[in-house]
Amino acid sequence: MISKKMEAALNQQIELECYASFLYLSMASWCDKEGLEGSAKFMHRQSEEEREHMLRIFHYISEVDGHALVPSIKQPPLEFDSAKSLFEQVYEHEQKVTSSINKLVALSYEENDYSTLNFLQWYIEEQREEEALMRTVIDRIKLIGGGPQSLYYIDKEIDQINKAAAAAAAAEDENANA
Ligand code: FEO
Repeated sequence: MISKKMEAALNQQIELECYASFLYLSMASWCDKEGLEGSAKFMHRQSEEEREHMLRIFHYISEVDGHALVPSIKQPPLEFDSAKSLFEQVYEHEQKVTSSINKLVALSYEENDYSTLNFLQWYIEEQREEEALMRTVIDRIKLIGGGPQSLYYIDKEIDQINKAAAAAAAAEDENANA
């Protein structure tokens, strides 16, 4: 059983994760349009991950006998000024999500809801990893700079991150099947 207050707060988190998924999908589409294939692939993966984050909460709410609500989502921005500004917006959004997760953790203490507290541990770890990843991307963009050929190199760098993510996922699968 979950309190109404906690249920409402988790439903708000569903909305935030769902918006992140839409925002990143819109970013992937913009990257594709600009010929930034590596970045598009990166943002598609992030969008999928956010959908998974949303679904995890969905299933959790049902498991604790609450009602998971499908949110209404406002349309995300469709155009972005540059790759740098796009990734800065991702980082900003991730910080907002982290702050929201922290508030959920505080509420679960307030409500003596140790099941939700335990459930949220995965999100704490995930947010730390996502913020670190976005900082890496932004640092690389800053290093490459804003010269005429920089977009090409930025996209190549981001594709290196894609390859590292694919290798990590394959290693995880292998461990799971071992
Ligand atoms: Fe699920 Fe990246 O916030």
